[in-house]
Amino acid sequence: MKEFKTSNAEGPIENFVNTYDLEPRAEKVIPKGAFGYIASGAGDEFTLRENDRAFNHKLIIPHVLENVENPDPSTVVDGHKITAPIILAPVAAHKLANDSGEIGSAKGVHNFNTIYTTSSYSSVDLPEITEALQGTPEWFQFYFSKDNEINKHIIDRVKALGIKKIILTADATVGGNREVDIRNQFVFPVNMPIVQEYLPEGVGKSMNYVYGSAKQKLSAKDIEFIVNYSGLPVYVKGVQSAEDVNRAIDAGAAGIWVSNHGGRQLDGGPAAFDSLQYVAQAVNHRVPIVFDSGIRRGQHVFKALASGADLVAVGRPAVYGLALGGSKGVEQVFDKLTEELKMVMQLAGTQTVDDIKHYQLRDNKFV
Ligand code: FNR
Ligand code: LAC
Repeated sequence: MKEFKTSNAEGPIENFVNTYDLEPRAEKVIPKGAFGYIASGAGDEFTLRENDRAFNHKLIIPHVLENVENPDPSTVVDGHKITAPIILAPVAAHKLANDSGEIGSAKGVHNFNTIYTTSSYSSVDLPEITEALQGTPEWFQFYFSKDNEINKHIIDRVKALGIKKIILTADATVGGNREVDIRNQFVFPVNMPIVQEYLPEGVGKSMNYVYGSAKQKLSAKDIEFIVNYSGLPVYVKGVQSAEDVNRAIDAGAAGIWVSNHGGRQLDGGPAAFDSLQYVAQAVNHRVPIVFDSGIRRGQHVFKALASGADLVAVGRPAVYGLALGGSKGVEQVFDKLTEELKMVMQLAGTQTVDDIKHYQLRDNKFV
C-alpha cells in the first residue's frame, strides 16, 4: 500500500463556533477514503440523520426563576470528578485523522479531564494510550473474539494496565452496510496493534474483514464470561431494547450504553435518542446509563441527561477536533460542548447536573 498521509495539526482550531463546523473542515485535511469511513453511516444513512433530527422533537421548558448562577457541569464517576458529563466514545484508528492518533486524543481528553474509552481497534497500542492519559480514567471497549484464548489475553493486558472498566460492544456482530466505504474501496491504511493477534496485518483490510474476526453469536453468556474472568465492571454498548437491558443486567452488566453506533450499523433503526427514554424506563435506576449517537450541542447533552442518561459520549466531533487541532482540537470540542451545556443549564434553570436529572418528560417536553 502507498504511504498513508493525514493531518499532523496541533494547536487551537480558529473560528470554531460549534461542532457542526468541524466536519466540512475535517474533510479538507483527512484523505477521502479515511474521511468517508469516519463520517458515513450505514445504508441510506437514515438512522444517521435521525440521530440529529430526534433531538428537536423533545423540548426543554425553561424555569426562569430558579435562582441559578454560573451552573456547575461537573460530575463524579467512580469517585473521579470530571469537568462535564461528556466522555469520549470508542472510535477505531485515530491515526486516520491525525498522525498523533490515540496519543493526541488521549492528551486532549486528559487536559479537558473526562473519561477516555479506548477502542479495541485503536491504531496505537494499549500501553502508549494509557501512558498518554497520565492517570485520566480509561475504559476499554471490547470486541469479543471468536477465540476465547484471545479474549482472555486482551482482558489480561487491560487489567495489567490498571484499566477499570470494560465496554462490550454488542451492536456490531457484523459490519453495517458501509456503502461509502464500498464506493471508495476503503481499506484500513493503519495497523490495529491491540487486536493484531486475531487480525494479522490489519493494514489493507476492509471493515467487514475486521468485523468478521469478532464473534457473531453474542449472548448474555458472553457478558457473564467477561464479568467473571475480568472481575471488572462491564457495560454493554449498543443496547436499545428493554429485553436486552434485562438480559444484560441479569448477566451481571454494571452499566448500559445506549447507542446505535452513530448510525453506522443497523440503518432503518430509530435515533438512539428516541430509544433512550425507553431504555431508561427498563433500567429503572438499577445501573448507570451512557448515551451516544448524535451529540453535537450542549442542548443535546442536557436532553440526554433529562431522559435518563448519566453520561453522554461523543465520537465524530472529537475525531474532527483531532484532525483539525490535534490534542488541543480534541480539548476544544469538549470545551465547546461544556460551554453550551452551561448556557442551557442557566437558561433552563438548573444549577447542577443532578438538577437536570429532575426534569420529567411529558408529551415530548422536559418539564
Ligand atoms: C465508531 N464507533 C465505534 N464503537 C465501538 O464500540 N468500537 C469502535 O471501534 C468504534 N469505531 C468507530 C469508528 C468511527 C470512525 C466512528 C465514527 C464510530 C461508534 C462510536 O463509539 C459511537 O457509538 C458513535 O461514534 C457515536 O456517534 P457520533 O458521536 O459519532 O455521532
Ligand atoms: C466502526 C467500528 C470500528 O464503527 O466499530 O467502524
